[in-house]
Amino acid sequence: MTQSPSTSNATTSATAYRAAILDSLGDPAELGLENSYRYFEDGMMVVENGRITALGHAPEIMKGLQSGTKIHHYEDALITPGFIDTHIHYPQTGMIASYGDQLLDWLENYTFPAEQKFVDPAHAEQVSEIFLNELLRNGTTTALVFGTVHPQSVDAFFSSAEKRNLRMIAGKVLMDRNAPEALTDTPESGYRDSKALIERWHGKGRLHYAVTPRFAPTSSPEQLATAGQLLREYDGLYMHTHLSENRNEIEWVKALFPEQNGYLDVYDHHNLLGQRSVFAHGVHLCDEECQRLAETDSAIAFCPTSNLFLGSGLFNLPQAEQHKIKVGLGTDVGAGTSFSMLQTINEAYKVMQLQGKKLHPFKSFYLATLGGARALQLEQQVGTLEPGSEADFVVLDYNSTPLMSYRMQQAKDLEERLFVLMTLGDDRAIKCTFAMGELVYSRD
Ligand code: GUN
Ligand code: FE
Repeated sequence: MTQSPSTSNATTSATAYRAAILDSLGDPAELGLENSYRYFEDGMMVVENGRITALGHAPEIMKGLQSGTKIHHYEDALITPGFIDTHIHYPQTGMIASYGDQLLDWLENYTFPAEQKFVDPAHAEQVSEIFLNELLRNGTTTALVFGTVHPQSVDAFFSSAEKRNLRMIAGKVLMDRNAPEALTDTPESGYRDSKALIERWHGKGRLHYAVTPRFAPTSSPEQLATAGQLLREYDGLYMHTHLSENRNEIEWVKALFPEQNGYLDVYDHHNLLGQRSVFAHGVHLCDEECQRLAETDSAIAFCPTSNLFLGSGLFNLPQAEQHKIKVGLGTDVGAGTSFSMLQTINEAYKVMQLQGKKLHPFKSFYLATLGGARALQLEQQVGTLEPGSEADFVVLDYNSTPLMSYRMQQAKDLEERLFVLMTLGDDRAIKCTFAMGELVYSRD
């Protein structure tokens, strides 16, 4: 009797990575700065079958390496978990840096025209590829992503992400009013199309689906109810929307939903809050709303480059901390002005400075990695370098520009090097990006 070839004698090939290695252990607001991170000056991480199997001081880890294990040694570099972007719009890649407007005019003048092109699957495919290339060039390995109203936009995105074996979350926009006709669905069609996408993609490989009402003004109460219904019908779905970004937007929501007690309550009324619910912005929240976000274990995506670019306002991170709300960082491209989480951190620091507050580099680092993973309920999979985690990581280059190189010579410790990296760094500082142990981007 012949048997199909057995895989049992296939050699499992471990690979080791040697460099300075840093990951986050928790929120500095809870653990204190000193206990919030783990750092190995001469560190080594071992990866096998896409997962991290060992992490520690290189001399110690090397003693336990199987003979023949390939070792990659990076000099003057820092290995960290891949960055996690908790709010971004892939269809807005082509209209990033659009001049002159605040939110509502910006949507009408730039965003809605750009999103109409995604009726064409070929366009969606092309932009998905450009977008994912850009994320990986910037060291971002997981993102929570808006599509457009067109289901084909999400098929294209997930196909591209699946090919690269990335952990990605996305969804079709639900929008049945206050938008151009070509960009609207109906409560019925939005529900049906979302359901089909969930059946096709949710839980496939490393992909997850997010029910994605654009924001309260563009969905009828009937449509918001269908969003709540979908969340009840399937396990593990995300809910992704915008909240309290811009003052005119907030007034508009109050006028559209006079029977509800403010913006967040519109979502709450339709059962859209919960541990996998992510609200972008939350720039203008009262304490009651913060309390409600915290008690439902909902998360906020802090999007500094977008909030500055659209003149939306300054996110109150200490308020979110006081209420123990989960917070991640979002680029919010195309209202955000950079795919780089390093640049996003740089701007977050300035947002805090404008409020007379400091943003410590270990806190920023937490927000861009483990904080983002927690906001997405993915901390068991990604966001740290804990053995058992999926091997999504980046190699950061301390010499990515002549200025950075020169500045680093004056830096006395990790804290300072990290701050310089986050202030001066951008895509040039990303030497390599790995997803599930595979090299998915190499700068050089
Ligand atoms: N609110 C509703 N839609 C959008 C969008 O596309 N971008 C941002 N920044 N805010 C929104
Ligand atoms: Fe957004």
